[in-house]
Amino acid sequence: MPTSPVILLLPGSLRAGSTNGSVLRTAQAVAPSRVRTVLYEDLAALPHFNPDDDTDPLPAPVAELRAAIGGATAVLICAPEYAGTLPGSFKNLLDWTVGGTEICDKPVARVNAAAPGRGRGAEATLRTVLGYTGADIVEPACVSVPVDRRAVGADGTIADEGVREQLGEVLALLVASHDRASGTDRA
Ligand SMILES: Cc1cc2nc3c(=O)[nH]c(=O)nc-3n(C[C@H](O)[C@H](O)[C@H](O)COP(=O)(O)O)c2cc1C
Repeated sequence: MPTSPVILLLPGSLRAGSTNGSVLRTAQAVAPSRVRTVLYEDLAALPHFNPDDDTDPLPAPVAELRAAIGGATAVLICAPEYAGTLPGSFKNLLDWTVGGTEICDKPVARVNAAAPGRGRGAEATLRTVLGYTGADIVEPACVSVPVDRRAVGADGTIADEGVREQLGEVLALLVASHDRASGTDRA
């Protein structure tokens, strides 16, 4: 019996009205019915990473993060660039993933919502960190989808058809990698 893909959506911004958050909410809105999306909303609840605390019992928000990653068939990240790299709060989240095995071999993609040509430093940092975690970066699904703050509607999603189409393609690529890994594509 083929399983339904579960895509965990990890936003890298704590800002109310975040464009990166809106990209992921829009991905939820365009996801096909066979895909379950889970939007991670507890970035602010994570404690500062401390290797002394990376032991059983884990702090509850960390255990919940790792369970969410473990329960997902793929992960989609949308994080902004701050001062040429990832926001510290999101790097903190990634640091908590290093000591677990949940993200190892997991298909992961990043949507870069920055203006054209921007956000490259964050992308490079993300690649470096994901390399340490052993995540399976789905290259074709790592795309730039520039989103202006004014494009975010009152419901927190993006109405632009081009953006919605691109996000639909990203989800389809993540689902395809899940199907290949689980053998669903041969069923
Ligand atoms: C402290 C700070 C540093 C920033 N540094 C960069 C940067 O280095 N490169 C860049 O392209 N944008 C930079 N920005 C712009 C943010 O990436 C941009 O505002 C983005 O939309 C924030 O994401 P959000 O809307 O999801 O909160 C910076 C913004 C802040 C607040």
